[in-house]
Amino acid sequence: MNGPLDPEAGAEAEALNAAQTAEAAEGFRAVHGGEPTGIWAAPGRVNLIGEHTDYNDGFVMPLALPHTTRVAAARRDDGVLGLHSADVSGGTVRLPAEKLAPGTADGWAAYPAGVVWALREAGLLSGREGGADLYIRSDVPTGAGLSSSAALEVATAVALNDLYGLGLAPERIARLCQRAENEFVGVPCGIMDQMASACCTAGHALHLDTRDLAARQVPFDLAAAGLRLLVVDTRVKHALGDGEYARRRAGCEEAAAALGVAALRDVPYGELDTALAGLADPALRPLVRHVVTENRRVEEVVGLLDAGDPRSIGPVLTAGHASLRDDFAVSCPELDLVVETANAAGALGARMTGGGFGGSAVVLVEAAGAEEVGAEVADAFDAAGHPAPRLFEAVPSTGARRLDG
Ligand code: GLA
Repeated sequence: MNGPLDPEAGAEAEALNAAQTAEAAEGFRAVHGGEPTGIWAAPGRVNLIGEHTDYNDGFVMPLALPHTTRVAAARRDDGVLGLHSADVSGGTVRLPAEKLAPGTADGWAAYPAGVVWALREAGLLSGREGGADLYIRSDVPTGAGLSSSAALEVATAVALNDLYGLGLAPERIARLCQRAENEFVGVPCGIMDQMASACCTAGHALHLDTRDLAARQVPFDLAAAGLRLLVVDTRVKHALGDGEYARRRAGCEEAAAALGVAALRDVPYGELDTALAGLADPALRPLVRHVVTENRRVEEVVGLLDAGDPRSIGPVLTAGHASLRDDFAVSCPELDLVVETANAAGALGARMTGGGFGGSAVVLVEAAGAEEVGAEVADAFDAAGHPAPRLFEAVPSTGARRLDG
């Protein structure tokens, strides 16, 4: 494995914060001139269980990664939004905040511009407000199903929230960021990623009801239990905008309408067979089966963690993968290979995480066997002729925050 990250560990975390704060401030000065007012950070995430349930008003359980997007920012009073990404070449874009509308920005700039647009649409900023200089730097892998988009949106939103003294609660920030992604960027995502980035806390997974955003921080101290959660980025680039995600979402909505419920979350597990039998279109049945059983799996995992039995969530994770692969059809050969190889090598359980069609898997392992499981997965990729996967440890980390002061 290439160096599991553990920036939550005391001094190491402080040193990392200090280094990232200094880098962002220096980058800001070099690009925009002057001093940034502050430096904000928002993390990527992995989802432990509860996949493709969020746009069905269901349950999810993400945790924040140590990897973050940082935004160094200062207000501008001339209404210009000056965006610079240190992660792309030629990454400077200047836009008039007042004229922002879907289609006026693309690529990476659409995410922060979309957030300013969403704040303005909500009436939180008007006239020339929303002008700001932003310097953006991220170490959340992109296209890996780890929510680099949400990290960028939420980091931008918490920066503007402070710069303009908006006083927005994290849930409101998450909703505004989701709107930016849905309507400005044009990706029909649910609310999980933005809520994870805005609300997660170190050492916990976030048990979230996506219908009303009721949330509970569930202690998830794997190290104390002698366990580790590995992330395997298959390096197969996923793109949620490519139509498959939207098709699954539309299928779920069609099924809910056919069943006469507001959302598939309203189909009780105990009535699944009756619901399936009542669906005239057989193509909708596996979608419904996945969502209903996945919501049930979230509750199972929460129950096991509350009972202090983290080892036993492994088979539930693997069952979730089978459901995503066979019923929801959002896996891919590389993700399946991670899950099969890891489980054969002694992992407690494994599953794809995020939207699928590529991206990453999570693997629950005994700490003592982590290196071996990782090596077996890497060997299997090599033998299959796939590029080497990227492996690291998911240490449940802090959600969005101001880094300086
Ligand atoms: C992506 C979306 C989320 C969620 C997951 C699947 O990450 O952004 O809203 O739908 O896929 O669980």
